[in-house]
Amino acid sequence: MRITLNNDVPTAVSADLIAIGLGSQKPARGSAAAALLSATGGAPFLKAEGFEGKPGQAVKVPGGPDMKAKGVLFVGLGDATGIDAARLVAHTALKLAGIRKAVAVVLGAAAPEEVRAAAQEAVLGAYRYLDYKTRGVRTGPGRTVLVVEGKKSSALKAAVEAGLIVGECASLARDLVNAPPNDLNPVTLAERAQAEAKALDLQVKVLGKRQLEKLGMNLFLAVNRGSAIEPRFIHITYAPKNAEKKVAFVGKGLTFDAGGLCLKPAKSMVDMKCDMAGAAVTLGVVLAAARLQLPVEVHAIIGSTENMTGDAAYRPGDVFTSLDGKTVEVINTDAEGRMVLADCLAWTRDQLQPDILIDHATLTGAAMVALGPHRTALYTADDDLADQYLVASEAADERYWRMPLDDDLRPMLDSFVADLKHVGGPHGGSITAALFLREFVGESTWIHCDIAGPSFNDGPHRRMPKGGTGHGVATAVRFLESL
Ligand code: BES
Ligand code: MN
Ligand code: ZN
Repeated sequence: MRITLNNDVPTAVSADLIAIGLGSQKPARGSAAAALLSATGGAPFLKAEGFEGKPGQAVKVPGGPDMKAKGVLFVGLGDATGIDAARLVAHTALKLAGIRKAVAVVLGAAAPEEVRAAAQEAVLGAYRYLDYKTRGVRTGPGRTVLVVEGKKSSALKAAVEAGLIVGECASLARDLVNAPPNDLNPVTLAERAQAEAKALDLQVKVLGKRQLEKLGMNLFLAVNRGSAIEPRFIHITYAPKNAEKKVAFVGKGLTFDAGGLCLKPAKSMVDMKCDMAGAAVTLGVVLAAARLQLPVEVHAIIGSTENMTGDAAYRPGDVFTSLDGKTVEVINTDAEGRMVLADCLAWTRDQLQPDILIDHATLTGAAMVALGPHRTALYTADDDLADQYLVASEAADERYWRMPLDDDLRPMLDSFVADLKHVGGPHGGSITAALFLREFVGESTWIHCDIAGPSFNDGPHRRMPKGGTGHGVATAVRFLESL
């Protein structure tokens, strides 16, 4: 999407549609909203449509003779002001604008943060997943103009660029999650990651089954045994010269999770193409960091396989030795994500020794039982780091909640035959999954994000669409910016 700044008065802006927010109060005399209301003679239209300025309300009115835009979209703001209002207006405008339409969004005397939020939401509001629709037009809205008062400063231009990049990288994550699992498998995911990374001149390494065997990633390989498709280990590096810190992101990349021999029931299986959302976030973050030229070294490590039921499938009772030499007894083959992540985390810990290690995984249904479907369960032993990540999540307007790494639950992972079993008891499933992962991060400073809920929506929620959401990209970018 092309997004530009314009500092004309709203009535002088040419566009197919110009959008402006309207609260429940009458707009102040002399304000842009009052000007557009009077230029369109829109008040009776709004009244007829029952418009009260509530959030979620939006009414389109034809442009008047003394203004350039062909139509005006009045967007209900409720109590929203500042950044929240900017998000709402930009998102609604781009969501409702038709194809190939030039859309203007009135932001007023906006700070860079508001402009950034509007640019990001313009991209995300325009998002549709149409790759498999054979009818209809595939192009989205045309150019987008953010209308601001005052100078088009370099700070505002940088804000547009930042919002655009985060929006596009979250959209990429959505696309990958929405892609059907017969087309997006570990091999094609790796190809896509490689192409995206190469386009930005990033270093990429992809390992196949033989190489994983040589390395001894036996927990990861155990999950792949039941699949007809080879696994892929993907490592992308963004290493700018001015970096002071090294952050490694690790993503669960199950392109389909049937549950393995502990097969999921049909209802639980239907959306399990979403089980590579952690990989999608991880890829989105490293691409965003590179495009934003953040002064941090960022690594993306993705472990990708399917979890299927082929003849060679791993079984409950099997014992495998992890990359770092721990024996693990398999309890339930549907707890496959932690097997893949365990080896990927240990590899990252030993090979990269990052300052901060952050994993994203659609790891447990239990995380949704605990927090509902729209929040990430965040785990870390480091209080300051937890606070810093939560602050980043608020700036990104994504919901997170810190969960406890309760040491007294650790005995649930004791095995009768091996060093560890990979599943705990019936309660606290998200916590015991995190405790299992903790066994493989050593002394690393580590954050675990269980994104099982917010990465995929059954229907639209707030500004997130049905299907893949890209949740996590914006927060991780904010976090990297805060370092
Ligand atoms: N991929 C699932 C978790 C999941 C559930 C993600 C719902 C998104 C939506 C994971 O691999 C899984 O199956 N976890 C099991 C673990 C259990 C067998 C210990 C679960 O949560 O039921
Ligand atoms: Mn599973
Ligand atoms: Zn899974």
